[in-house]
Amino acid sequence: ENIIRVAIDGPSGAGKSTIAKAVAKKLGIDYIDTGAMYRAVGYKTLVCGVDPQDRQALKNMLEKTSIDFSKGNIILDGEIINDQIRTPQIAKKASECSALADVRQKLVQLQRQMGQEKSVIMDGRDIGSNVLTDAEYKFFMTASAEERAKRRYDELTEKGQDITYDQVLEDIQKRDHSDMTRELNPLRKADDALEVDTTGMSIEDVTNYILKEIER
Ligand code: C5P
Repeated sequence: ENIIRVAIDGPSGAGKSTIAKAVAKKLGIDYIDTGAMYRAVGYKTLVCGVDPQDRQALKNMLEKTSIDFSKGNIILDGEIINDQIRTPQIAKKASECSALADVRQKLVQLQRQMGQEKSVIMDGRDIGSNVLTDAEYKFFMTASAEERAKRRYDELTEKGQDITYDQVLEDIQKRDHSDMTRELNPLRKADDALEVDTTGMSIEDVTNYILKEIER
């Protein structure tokens, strides 16, 4: 049986998770949202009152942390945390935690295990360049910062969050900057990834484009 691994990387709000979910469904393979794993760690530091910069405290916390996916849910230490991690505050914490070696080491190892022995589509920042360097298909999704901010703004306000477009744009630009300039596995396009600029494209268009590339 043929195993395929699909890596989708790109900055926040490029539409990676929406597209990855749709492609996973079409192909009947598992979807792994690695951003949600960094968010889970950020969420746990807040809940437990752990300062991520306190290395020993963070290490102790990580040792007692389990993260899993089941039926489209993200499960942290046995608890479903899908909704709790989708806030701007958690996004910021996730970004802070994602720059730390102990966090990356643990999550990358978990992600590699999840990508073994079965077909998966995984999205994040460093999947094609670091986690699954031998993935059969690699895509790098981009869109203008303004369009990404608009998508994120619509998503958050739909959920009833009180936030302005300018605030969302500023958050996105800050997060892009730290994700691209951090020392460990920064956001970058893998040399063998196909770049897809989704500005002005519908979800359906992008999904079909990626499916077409995979089926080629
Ligand atoms: O994709 P999402 O916005 O949920 O990711 C949250 C944060 O997790 C990102 O801003 C980034 O700092 C971090 N991340 C990462 N590597 C990944 C996925 C996410 O560093 N593979």
